Amino acid sequence: MKLIKLDAIDSTNDFLKGLSATEELENFTVVTAENQTKGRGQMGAVWNSEKSKNLIMSVFVKDLLVGVEAIYNFNIATTLTLIQVLKTFNIPNLSIKWPNDIMSANFKIAGILIENSFKSDGTISSVIGIGLNVNQTDFENLPKASSMAVVVNSTFDKDELVVLIVERLKVNLGLVASNPEYLWNEYFKLLFKKGIPMPFKTETEKAFMGIIQGVTQKGKLVVLLEDDTFAEYDIKEIQMLY
Ligand code: BTN
Repeated sequence: MKLIKLDAIDSTNDFLKGLSATEELENFTVVTAENQTKGRGQMGAVWNSEKSKNLIMSVFVKDLLVGVEAIYNFNIATTLTLIQVLKTFNIPNLSIKWPNDIMSANFKIAGILIENSFKSDGTISSVIGIGLNVNQTDFENLPKASSMAVVVNSTFDKDELVVLIVERLKVNLGLVASNPEYLWNEYFKLLFKKGIPMPFKTETEKAFMGIIQGVTQKGKLVVLLEDDTFAEYDIKEIQMLY
């Protein structure tokens, strides 16, 4: 693993994407930063992280041989990686809030942002961005967020976490090709609020109740509606209200 440690950067994902466009990077090149000035989250959101407290990292992976239809498997491999690493630190009540928030009970402690590029030889290279709240304890303006330090009342070594995450990510990305069923089964078991009636909202509808059933191979959320029909939603199409 090649590790590039930065003090401050706009976004580690953008930095790594830029670097991969100008030079041939080793597989699993990792960039970390103490601070991001333009950290990006899902769907154009901003990712804020208190300076030096948390893990801000991006991992470059290349030559991934899966079809476009299986691209959601990278997402599953990455979320599972975080859950598995967090378990080793006894972080309680871990789950994955679709599509890719890592929760401890009802609090988000990590998010991921994966950006893929499709090569002409049929392979995919990806920048896997991970924001993990590690030692931040002040979440005054973010009532639904928390950190490892808050939930177990301890502090953690970020460098050790980077190594553990990359090791586990290698294993799980290997499983994308060799045993994706295993990854899916684990992901399914960990789905936040699965089987529990929850309020949802789409852009066009008022709030409605639904029950999460699972996720399709392409990453759509399957929800049982009150009229006993099933609906599938893309990331941009639905929001869980909780
Ligand atoms: C989300 O939950 O919306 C995803 C958050 C992803 C944040 C990480 S921090 C490292 C990497 N660089 C970015 O600009 N974003 C990701």
